[in-house]
Amino acid sequence: MSADSNRPLDPAAALDRGEATDVVQMHAAVQRERPEPMEGSEPLNLWLVVFIAVLLFWAGSYLTQYSGGFRADEFSENQINPAPPPVVGGSGGDDPVTKAVKAGTPLYVTYCAPCHQGDGNGVAGQFPPLAGSEWVLAEGPNRIIRIVLHGLGGPITVKGSTYNNQMNAFRDSMDDVQIANVVTYIRNSFGNKGSAVSAAEVAAIRTATAARVDPWSAAELEGVAVSGGGEGAAAPAALTVDQIKEALKALPAEDLKTLLQDVAK
Ligand code: HEC
Repeated sequence: MSADSNRPLDPAAALDRGEATDVVQMHAAVQRERPEPMEGSEPLNLWLVVFIAVLLFWAGSYLTQYSGGFRADEFSENQINPAPPPVVGGSGGDDPVTKAVKAGTPLYVTYCAPCHQGDGNGVAGQFPPLAGSEWVLAEGPNRIIRIVLHGLGGPITVKGSTYNNQMNAFRDSMDDVQIANVVTYIRNSFGNKGSAVSAAEVAAIRTATAARVDPWSAAELEGVAVSGGGEGAAAPAALTVDQIKEALKALPAEDLKTLLQDVAK
């Protein structure tokens, strides 16, 4: 034991009996550790700041250039397929269709789009489409003016699908000019291409049908010539073969027999 106490001490341990080594090692270990991460206190890398600034500037100028002014109709059919440029020497942007389509757009949005939808495709089974509809694209507007004036009800076939619903009348909420514009609009939107409709045409039909209260049925309208005057004296509806078949099917067998015998006489 005494021999042990006389042995020269390790110089590093001389200070406090060997603990100094541990202190150095401990400090080395602590120095190897990364600092505790602290939330929100680290300054951003300068290059990252510059990069974000450039990105924001670029995004801003991109939007300014390509946002189309943030117009809601930017991607509507009309914008995608704009009317062909006017013929040189023509009436410029003032042709009746262009003017009426412009004036008819807000009217369509207010009065028709709730049911027929902004894109004119309607709602399957409920509201028939105006896009590509044979009713809208008819050569003349005699039937669609009536539909807008007095409404429509009962079964109707549009683009091969049958609907049986009710459309309300607009004779009191729109004047002749407005109806002419909205009808011209639907005939020249959603990919449709039709002639312009004048306020005079609407006025003539309004007068001729002044006594009308009920909405039209499709069958009734089929008896109205699509174009031409003489609205007041529309010929009585000629029955189509299909309608005759339907009527015959509805007859009791007894009556059908009598009828056939009568026809055979
Ligand atoms: C309340 C919903 C509603 C509103 C609003 C409405 N319609 Fe209709 N529309 C209908 C329904 C339903 C039919 C089919 C009626 C039937 O089944 O007999 C129809 C049919 C039509 C048709 C004939 C069928 C076709 O699809 O081509 C035209 C044309 C038409 N509407 C135009 C208009 C126009 C123009 C307006 C705006 C002025 C308008 N509608 C507003 C519900 C509506």
